[in-house]
Amino acid sequence: MRINPFGGSRRTQQADAVVTGAGSGIGRAFAVELGKRGGRIVCSDIDPERARHTAELIGDTGGKAFDTGCDVRSLDQVTALANTAEEWFGKSPDLVVNNAGIGRGGTVIGETPPAEWHQVLDVNLWGVIHGCHVFTPRLREAGHGAIVNVASAAAFGSAPRMAAYNVSKAGVLALSETLAAELSGTGVTVTVLCPTGVRTNILEGVSIGDETVRLWGARLLRWTGRSPAAIARGTLDAVDQGRLYVVPQIEAKAIWQSKRLLPETYTRAAGLVERLVR
Ligand SMILES: NC(=O)c1ccc[n+]([C@@H]2O[C@H](COP(=O)([O-])OP(=O)(O)OC[C@H]3O[C@@H](n4cnc5c(N)ncnc54)[C@H](O)[C@@H]3O)[C@@H](O)[C@H]2O)c1
Repeated sequence: MRINPFGGSRRTQQADAVVTGAGSGIGRAFAVELGKRGGRIVCSDIDPERARHTAELIGDTGGKAFDTGCDVRSLDQVTALANTAEEWFGKSPDLVVNNAGIGRGGTVIGETPPAEWHQVLDVNLWGVIHGCHVFTPRLREAGHGAIVNVASAAAFGSAPRMAAYNVSKAGVLALSETLAAELSGTGVTVTVLCPTGVRTNILEGVSIGDETVRLWGARLLRWTGRSPAAIARGTLDAVDQGRLYVVPQIEAKAIWQSKRLLPETYTRAAGLVERLVR
């Protein structure tokens, strides 16, 4: 799966990095791990208090971090984020993690309110499009660097009752693959992260079907989810190896392989599960 000829490079060491959605979960774990690797980190989040807390965590371990608010749904705010980061670093960033995202689901197509479709696509897909649109020219001009886009195994898993989320993540996967090809030979690499469950706050305070379904989903995530720190470490190691795809967990790999080897059988099986729970 390696498409970039940078095997062995250590681009995540002492990287000047920008992380979106850095106030919680996977984004916070990326920011903290990058801080441990000696980089200067711009921690951004729609919730500036959460971003500040992440920056403090990095500061507590001797790292250097700057916190700022940024709603990735806004192209103007993402542009301002890039300008702020360049000012603080005194140069363009080495690494950008387009991580901010929200979870929604629990309804079937036709019953999912259009407002929810827009909400999910605005953050999960447009947020990453904005990040790639704003930062790519800057990294390309610098002639080096890496972009990490956080997708999900939902990008290819296409589980029922998660259409908006699935579509948003499939978009992030396609965007990342296209960008990787377009940046080939420029010195800038692209890595797309496609995990299954990770123990984060993604199901806190959101509507996923009824409250019982959400509570069980949150419990399942706590019991079976991988730690965000392990996900961030593994992904950054993959960036160092110039890898495009990071499909970290065994079940994510199983879904990935099934979809490639037996796509129709996979979807029929998903339909069977849907009929059982209906
Ligand atoms: N947790 C999982 O099981 C899982 C699995 C696969 C993929 N992901 C993806 O990982 C990414 C991070 O999610 P998480 O699980 O850490 O969730 P989380 O809720 O713990 O953290 C998400 C962070 O993003 C911020 N955010 C939300 N909307 C934003 C916006 N418009 N602009 C900027 N920041 C915003 C939140 O304030 C929060 O701090 C998401 O893209 C999510 O889809 C998560």
